[in-house]
Amino acid sequence: MLRIGIIGTGALASLMALRLAEQADVAMVGSWPEQLDAIEAAGLTLVEADGRSHTHSLTATDEPLLLPPVDVALVLVKSYQTATAVRRLRTLVNTDTLIVTLQNGLGNWEILAQAYGAWRVVQGVTSLGATMVRPGVVRAAGDGPINLAWAASNLFYDPFVACLRTAGFTVELVRNVQGLVWGKLAVNAAINPLTAVLQVRNGVLAEEEPLKQVMMAAARETAVVAAAQGIQLPYPDAAQRALAVAQATAQNHSSMLQDIRRGGQTEIEAICGAVIKAGQRFGVPTAVNAQLYHWVKTVEAGQPITDWRIGVGGTAVDLESYRKE
Ligand code: PAF
Repeated sequence: MLRIGIIGTGALASLMALRLAEQADVAMVGSWPEQLDAIEAAGLTLVEADGRSHTHSLTATDEPLLLPPVDVALVLVKSYQTATAVRRLRTLVNTDTLIVTLQNGLGNWEILAQAYGAWRVVQGVTSLGATMVRPGVVRAAGDGPINLAWAASNLFYDPFVACLRTAGFTVELVRNVQGLVWGKLAVNAAINPLTAVLQVRNGVLAEEEPLKQVMMAAARETAVVAAAQGIQLPYPDAAQRALAVAQATAQNHSSMLQDIRRGGQTEIEAICGAVIKAGQRFGVPTAVNAQLYHWVKTVEAGQPITDWRIGVGGTAVDLESYRKE
């Protein structure tokens, strides 16, 4: 049986651990004490979109030294924890271990590749949705494929892909991974910060015209930064794509809203922060991303947003009245 180490104990990590647990020997490594305690006490429960649920007992620990090395390490921590994940992986990785990242944002693959070698680190992207109901219980919140970069030379790559498929995931192997990463980034830059600062579900961005305009402008801006680097997105229109995702995930609380509600740090640096930096490098203005970045940073710091105006297409849009109290 394939030995899979899942680094992270959040919603997506939990969903994947549970689905893979029937096919592989899965262990979770993380630092969320309530989640580790709940899994140890009663296993992990997955509530499917149709309401059915199932529970699986799993090894979940904050001490990777207790585990033998794994064949595949699946990195699913928040982007600001990737450097910590590198340390947690130290004793889990042996000569052939494949490392796969499905994290949001830019820069994760680079950190892992620098620590463990580009040849064994595979970039992936997924639009699978999941939400923690409470520690020990995760709800599936939207299906989507897992897109993985080709890495045929690794011993464990084909068995891992087969294992994902047997577990019920749709896996697509792709060559233009940068396109996929930036494609996901454009959607995240459009949906996550706005839903987080306004405290609204994704669908609200598609329903309210001014919010829709800002969302689409952020996606468009990100697409221009990608194009300036010669990166081709996997869809023709980033703004339309963001709108479609907001509609398809209308009931979701975005991951960034969930982070803000927990009072935690967000992935804004690896999302809008990364777009702004790349924009500066390639001479592309990123005013919409910059304003969204500023708002999220303000909320992260526990400060109130005092000016809710944002410039879109030469006009200032005031978002104050769309904030959910
Ligand atoms: O980060 C998220 O929440 C998700 O990537 C997405 C697609 C925005 C849906 O909520």
